[in-house]
Amino acid sequence: MKDAFGNDVTTQSAGTIDAVDRFSSSLLGNGTDFGIVFEASDADPDCGLVAALGGLLGLFIETADRLDLADRYLDRALAAALQATEREQLFIEALVAARQNNLPKALSCHRRLAEKYPRDLLSAKIAQTLYFNLGDDEGMLWVADQIIDAHRDTAYAHGMRAFGLEQMSRLEEAEEEGRRATEMLRCEPWAHHAVAHVMITQGRLDEGVKWMEDLSPEWDGCNSFMYTHNWWHLALFHLENENFEGAVAMYDSHVWGRDKTFSQDQINAVSLLWRLELAGVDVGDRWIDVADYVAARSLVNDQPFLDMHYVYALAKGGQVEALAELMAGMEETAVCDPDFTRGNWRDVALPASQSFVAFSKGDYKSTIRLLGPAHNHMQKIGGSHAQRDLFEQVWIHSLLQENEFSTVLPLIKERLAFRKPVKLDQSLMASAQARAGLD
Ligand SMILES: [Fe+2]
Repeated sequence: MKDAFGNDVTTQSAGTIDAVDRFSSSLLGNGTDFGIVFEASDADPDCGLVAALGGLLGLFIETADRLDLADRYLDRALAAALQATEREQLFIEALVAARQNNLPKALSCHRRLAEKYPRDLLSAKIAQTLYFNLGDDEGMLWVADQIIDAHRDTAYAHGMRAFGLEQMSRLEEAEEEGRRATEMLRCEPWAHHAVAHVMITQGRLDEGVKWMEDLSPEWDGCNSFMYTHNWWHLALFHLENENFEGAVAMYDSHVWGRDKTFSQDQINAVSLLWRLELAGVDVGDRWIDVADYVAARSLVNDQPFLDMHYVYALAKGGQVEALAELMAGMEETAVCDPDFTRGNWRDVALPASQSFVAFSKGDYKSTIRLLGPAHNHMQKIGGSHAQRDLFEQVWIHSLLQENEFSTVLPLIKERLAFRKPVKLDQSLMASAQARAGLD
């Protein structure tokens, strides 16, 4: 039978096809209809593809039994793979490799799928996420470029390409693609998000507020990652415009509270609270609640970018034991992780996290010492340019606190020259100059 994109699926069950399509549109459109693949696979165990989707779901949910679920469904997918098509076999191989933490192999399978089976939009979406986690902007765009001709009529494909273009700093094309996707399908939150990235990168804050506010009703049915992340972007426009009250109100009403146990909700909250504090805003006791939820996590030391946020929340919320455990886990990962990613933990995530603990205590000298070698290599830990800018702000604030004016003033000048001047950067420059005794 065929799925909604015309890909062959080895099954005779309409229920399986329905589950594959619902799962795919949830992943591509940032919805919530994922669990259906478990039932569908249990009812149709000979379909390798739907079993592989069960395995994928096990890999991205965050419950304690996640890996057991992943293994159960991936084992079933492997058993069914002999009867599967070449596309399905490659898809299964990619997910099994991802489960084994063999990212080069997983990416190589997804690349072959993008080249040979560009109708497989789900595989391309997974590949773009893997590249995102590795800070590989070229990979993110490459995979979208491979599939776009096969999906000219699909908004999600244009949304994916928009984000790849944005991360490659091809901003005008990114905005065009993002707007196109939104016109094709108003509820394409990933495309809204790509255009928001363009606007923040160019300092178009008022436009950004309008763009995101107009589209925000479309996010109500999104999964908590997309919902809180798009609201985070909207709050960021307010914050950089020095509308601090607006940003705090958005934190309370939308950014924190959707699913407090989920990693992405937590890091959106951490990132916003941290930036508010850097801007001089008193965030009250908000760290306590975030830190409580971060301390309760069973899944940590999985992505360097996430750990680097968790660390700061735990430090700010006084979660001493959980912080010590997280750091010990990072130290181990920095030694034991596969070759492909080990250096990212050892040379970037671990020293940066140690520097953030120092920063939380006001020890700016140690922050500079630890963050210095890592801060120019932040791209390797994944996330977007806009997200990683937080770490650059920590670097700048630490240098300022230590009166390192000859290093820090050119950095702030560069920020102002890089985009349309925004209030937050202008205030930063004014306070730096005042501190340095300059006009
Ligand atoms: Fe973003």
